[in-house]
Amino acid sequence: MNNAELLGQLEGKNRQVLEGGGAERIKKHYESGRLTARERLDCLLDPASFVELDRFKLHRCTDFDMAEKKIPGDGVVTGWGCIHGRQVFVFAQDFAAYGGSLSLTQSEKICKIMKLAMKAGAPVIGLCDSGGARIQEGVMSLAGYGDIFLLNVMASGVIPQITAIMGPSAGGAVYSPALTDWIFMVEKTSYMFITGPDVIKAVTHEIVSKEDLGGAMAHNAKSGVAHFASPDDRTCLASIRELMGFLPQNNTEKPPVKACADDPARRDETLRDIVPPDPRKPYDMRTIICSNLDDLYFFEVQEHWAKNIVIGFGRLDGMPVGVIANQPSVMAGCLDINASTKGARFVRFCDAFNIPLIIYEDVPGFLPGTHQEHGGIIRHGAKLIYAFCEATVPRITVITRKAYGGAYIVMSSKHLRGDVNIAYPTAEIAVMGAEGAVNIISREKIERSDDPQTERIKMIGEYKEKFSNPYRAAELGYIDEIIDPADTRPKLVQALHMLKTKKDTNPLKKHGNIPL
Ligand code: HXC
Repeated sequence: MNNAELLGQLEGKNRQVLEGGGAERIKKHYESGRLTARERLDCLLDPASFVELDRFKLHRCTDFDMAEKKIPGDGVVTGWGCIHGRQVFVFAQDFAAYGGSLSLTQSEKICKIMKLAMKAGAPVIGLCDSGGARIQEGVMSLAGYGDIFLLNVMASGVIPQITAIMGPSAGGAVYSPALTDWIFMVEKTSYMFITGPDVIKAVTHEIVSKEDLGGAMAHNAKSGVAHFASPDDRTCLASIRELMGFLPQNNTEKPPVKACADDPARRDETLRDIVPPDPRKPYDMRTIICSNLDDLYFFEVQEHWAKNIVIGFGRLDGMPVGVIANQPSVMAGCLDINASTKGARFVRFCDAFNIPLIIYEDVPGFLPGTHQEHGGIIRHGAKLIYAFCEATVPRITVITRKAYGGAYIVMSSKHLRGDVNIAYPTAEIAVMGAEGAVNIISREKIERSDDPQTERIKMIGEYKEKFSNPYRAAELGYIDEIIDPADTRPKLVQALHMLKTKKDTNPLKKHGNIPL
């Protein structure tokens, strides 16, 4: 063949790659409301930035007539490209080829880009749409999953790993996504479960639909396995692009600073009246969070699960920050098992990737009850303590109202290496609320008095004056500054700039033993 013929041959082979599993399967795929793997990568990446690897790679299976069923690329598209001009490594499973099922070959392709990503120090994004282990390959496909799990763990805390579930993800296949940092799901077309509805029915006689068992909202609102739910593929991929804007490329870099048009000294006098005078009245902490961030923009994460704690990303004077806040409008902002787990994982992610933390605190304590105690609130609450104690990124805490008991210590107090701890004049930093405290320490005195009712009110007033304020803590240096709430944004920006060069370390160890 001459050169022109060779080029023609290459063109033909490339055309064959694009045909994938064939028009009929692609048509069926579209009918389910999903984009193809290549269309998804087009949406995810900057225009014309995608470089594909291994597009001609084939499986080596000969059982079950597989020798005659070869589709170039073997059901996954892999390579690298850019998001906002920054390099990312990607793989997208192609359901229209073997149902996106994972063969050893497919695993080799995925592992190749994961290894490259680690060497290049850039994030990996996986778009999953797969029937699971390639049944015809038996243990070879299981080995493929094992290889991926190992690399997921090796890459954890080194490069950001993001997964979008954009179709089925069943059986042990769900564990690779679970080992990554963020899971996105698409409503109505994606689902994740260890065992599907049929097996559940056979074993437990429970009847449940795929959607209720492992759909996007099941994992975003009930299990806490997923972090984002999107109405369709395009919105999901746009959200991934947005998340990437807050993250560094790897654990040795700082997150990308963006030019900021919002005045860093902008004050907000409406914040003076956000905290209601009645300590039992709720308010939405997100109002304070948004007011302080650049352009009032807060990118909330896991918004449907454990709503008593709010987490997400934003920017202060262009610098990305992770926000973690008690939410007084849900369960009074109590810390329970789910909130502790949600908060702890977020703190650890931000710490691993050099993202400073802004903590807003209004917490009456840990949620009481047998359900919580027997569910292990001691163990789970300890995760949050552990995460804050080991975090060496800049940490700025704002106490808006209640900071009671153990929960006061947990939420990045000075005692856990908090860097800057500020309080509103409405802050109450005490072992517990005034009424509860008086019931315990002054019960006898109240009962012995001629007018117990008046005595009780008097004692509550005394306790409040003494402890339900930020001044005791400030006298001890546990609070650095008591501020006018209107100044929160300038104060946060100022503290963040001061901490830009912060360095702190933990003792040398193989790894800690976080209470799991
Ligand atoms: C090989 C598979 C496959 C698989 C689907 N296909 N799953 N091929 N191995 N695991 C193929 C089908 O044969 C079909 O090929 C094409 O993909 C599309 O599948 P359909 O069934 O037509 O699609 P749909 O009706 O949308 O159903 C999708 C599905 C179903 C629910 C995912 O295919 C299914 O139940 N698949 C098996 C799921 C499963 O049990 N996987 C193993 C899980 S255990 P043709 O040629 O007709 O287009 C596991 C262990 C991992 O993964 C352990 C890790 C440690």
